[in-house]
Amino acid sequence: MPTTQSAPHHSPRPLAVVTGASSGIGEAFARKLAPSHDLILVARRREKLDAIASEVAAAHGTRAEVLVADLTLETDVARVAKRIRTEPSLELLVNNAGFGVDGLFWEGAIESNDRMHRLHILAPLRLCHAALGNFVPRNRGAIVNVASVAAFIRGIGSGSYGATKSWMTAFTEGLHLDLRSIKSRVVVQALCPGFTYTEFHDAMGVRRDKRAPRSFWLTAESVVAASLAGLRRRKLYVVPDWKYKIVTAIATKFSNRMRVAFELSRTRRTDKEAAPSQSAGETR
Ligand SMILES: NC(=O)c1ccc[n+]([C@@H]2O[C@H](COP(=O)([O-])OP(=O)(O)OC[C@H]3O[C@@H](n4cnc5c(N)ncnc54)[C@H](OP(=O)(O)O)[C@@H]3O)[C@@H](O)[C@H]2O)c1
Repeated sequence: MPTTQSAPHHSPRPLAVVTGASSGIGEAFARKLAPSHDLILVARRREKLDAIASEVAAAHGTRAEVLVADLTLETDVARVAKRIRTEPSLELLVNNAGFGVDGLFWEGAIESNDRMHRLHILAPLRLCHAALGNFVPRNRGAIVNVASVAAFIRGIGSGSYGATKSWMTAFTEGLHLDLRSIKSRVVVQALCPGFTYTEFHDAMGVRRDKRAPRSFWLTAESVVAASLAGLRRRKLYVVPDWKYKIVTAIATKFSNRMRVAFELSRTRRTDKEAAPSQSAGETR
C-alpha cells in the first residue's frame, strides 16, 4: 500500500526521492529503484503516483510514499526540501520533474516560461541544497539532475528550455567541484538524455516525427539504466546512447560562431522541406 504520512523513514532499505515520478523518466527511475530502495514519489498527479506506489509495494515490498507537490510553488518546494533534509536514510535524490515550452520565445506565454524556470532551476536548487545538507555530513549519497542534450545544442524555438538545462549542467558541475574540493564521497550527476519516449512531447503538443528520426528516440528505461550505471562509476556527465555521445562531442567542439551558423543552416533546410508549425506548447 502507498504511504502518505510524513514521519521520518525507518527501514533497512536506503531511501530515494524521485521528482516527476508520475510518468516517463521519473516513473522509470521509481520502477528500477523499487527492488532495492524505498521511495518518496513526488509530482502533482496523485492517482498516478498512488498506482505506481501500490504496484511497487506489491511487487517488491517497497515502502513508497506519495508526496503530492507542485514544484513551481515555493511552499510545496519547501515542504519537499524539509523531508529531504531530515531523512536519515536518504541515499539518492533524482531531480527530474520538468516540461518543455516550444516556439519563438516572444510568441509563447511568459507564464509557462516562468513556471518552467521555477521547476528546472529554483526547485532543484532548493532540493540539492537540502540533500547536500543531509549527505555531506554523512559523507554519502547521490544526486541525479536530469538535464538534456539541449544543454549543449541550442535550437530555434527551444532557447528558453535549453537555457534551463544549460543551467542544470553548469550547476551540477559546480557542485561536483565543491564536493571534490573537500574529498567528499557524495556523487552528483548531470543526466543528459536526447529525445526519449515519454509524455514530454505530448504535453508540449509537438509531433515526435517532426523532431527526429525514429532511430534517435530512446526509451526511458535505457536512459535510467545509463544513469544508474554512471552512478556506480561516479560519472559527472551521463549522455545515454552512443549516437548522442557523438552528437554532443562534436557540438561542444564547435566555436560559438560555427554552432550558430550550423543551427541556422539546418533550419533553412527544414524550411525548404516543409513549412514548420511553430507551437508554443505546454498543455498539461
Ligand atoms: N522526453 C525527452 O525527450 C527528454 C529529453 C531530455 C530531457 N528530458 C527531461 O526529462 C525530465 C522528465 O521528463 P519526461 O521526458 O519523463 O516527461 P514526462 O513524461 O512529461 O514527465 C514529466 C514529469 O514531471 C512532472 N511535473 C511536471 N510539472 C511539474 C510540477 N509543476 N511539479 C511537480 N512535478 C511536475 C510530471 O508529473 P505531474 O504532471 O503529475 O506533476 C511528470 O511526472 C524533464 O526534466 C525533461 O526536461 C526529457
